[in-house]
Amino acid sequence: MATFAPPPGTADIFENEAAEWRCLENAAREVFSHYGYGELRTPVFEYTELFQRGLGGETEVVQKEMYTFADRGGRSLTLRPEGTAGVMRALSNTDVLNGVEQRVYYMGPMFRGERPAAGRRRQFHQIGVENVGRCAPLIDAECLAMLRAFLERIDLADAKLVINTRGVREDRPAAEKVLREYFSQHIDDMCDDCRTRLERNIWRILDCKQEACGKVIAGAPEYLKYFSEESRNYFAEVCRALDALGVAYTVEPRLVRGLDYYVHTVFELTHPALGGQTAIAGGGRYELFLPGQNRPVPGVGFAAGVERLLLARQSLEKTGAAEPAAAYLVGLTPEMRVANLALANKLRAAGLKIALELEDRSFKAQLRGANKSGAKLAVIRGESEAEKGVAVVKNMADGSQCEMPEAEVFEYVLRNTTGVN
Ligand code: HAM
Repeated sequence: MATFAPPPGTADIFENEAAEWRCLENAAREVFSHYGYGELRTPVFEYTELFQRGLGGETEVVQKEMYTFADRGGRSLTLRPEGTAGVMRALSNTDVLNGVEQRVYYMGPMFRGERPAAGRRRQFHQIGVENVGRCAPLIDAECLAMLRAFLERIDLADAKLVINTRGVREDRPAAEKVLREYFSQHIDDMCDDCRTRLERNIWRILDCKQEACGKVIAGAPEYLKYFSEESRNYFAEVCRALDALGVAYTVEPRLVRGLDYYVHTVFELTHPALGGQTAIAGGGRYELFLPGQNRPVPGVGFAAGVERLLLARQSLEKTGAAEPAAAYLVGLTPEMRVANLALANKLRAAGLKIALELEDRSFKAQLRGANKSGAKLAVIRGESEAEKGVAVVKNMADGSQCEMPEAEVFEYVLRNTTGVN
């Protein structure tokens, strides 16, 4: 059989899996709305400079992974590699610049030209939130508590949270000096990219995923003590609030995250099912420069990768089979199939999932269909039933059946399948 695979790093999602996606999405909507978040849908492409300026020109994402193209007018556009920048652009048209808080969540496809692997796609999907306009340790702690609540809700309570602080921009030169001294001594053992990073943006070294570099990074000096007292207090307050809320975490003193907009709190979550390396979610506090603005906009948020959440859930053997039909309608004459179609639509409008045969197939083949659909009841109508104005209703579990007037079938199916779907 010829196969028509989708492009590498993308996937078709069929109903069995889509049902799992909806389950995550519904849980997110419910949990986030309790915290006062509303949905925001932004375009899947934006002007390229939004990401260049917002995420940082030295990041892997901007340097190597963006899908960028020129539109017909020659403007450079990019498929969004993440959600925060677009959300901030959209919110900059509200009074968020005047310190009015906005709480939004989003879900949808993101695009990064990475090497495809398990849990790493070129089109992947995020469920994310942004709390924009204000800055306080308790806001960060509340955001993390909500992420925890969401993970618990989808049975991923054993995800591990690591946090750190990036301080504020003014804190960094002193810490950079110490890091530069250390990495200069070890740079011969590190990758070519890290050599460039040493000159251009030393913080990016801490996010390098090369094994050899990882060994050097593990010995890098802890730089928190070089940050201002204000930044250290901010972080201490976030940790105290998390303790008070019962949110477990580990401080990872070299966590910087892959995007350059972060200040103060940064965090990542991993799950044992995916190993310690692959993050199922990440986020933090940020200050984002929007095109045309000289003042950055503050916010805090996170995004979880849907494909990775699903991989973690697979390990729990929670993946649901497709929802069974409540009833299957068997029609053995053209007239009865038309009557079945009308009945099916009436039952569907009443909230039931109904399957039926619309082609001319044998009784045996139609019963096989009824079995496959997982239906609780089969409604059978052939020539003799039509003459008598009745239908046979078969209980698929025990094989028992009864005959009833056509006019009673709707009520009977409704009464005897409640709770099926
Ligand atoms: P990020 O860490 O780049 O952060 O991505 C967040 C999550 O998206 C990751 O933890 C991972 O689960 C998922 N993800 C990223 N790349 C891929 C990929 N290629 N394939 C599958 N899943 C992937 C951000 O995007 C920030 N915007 C998060 C944020 C929101 N920070 C503040 N607000």
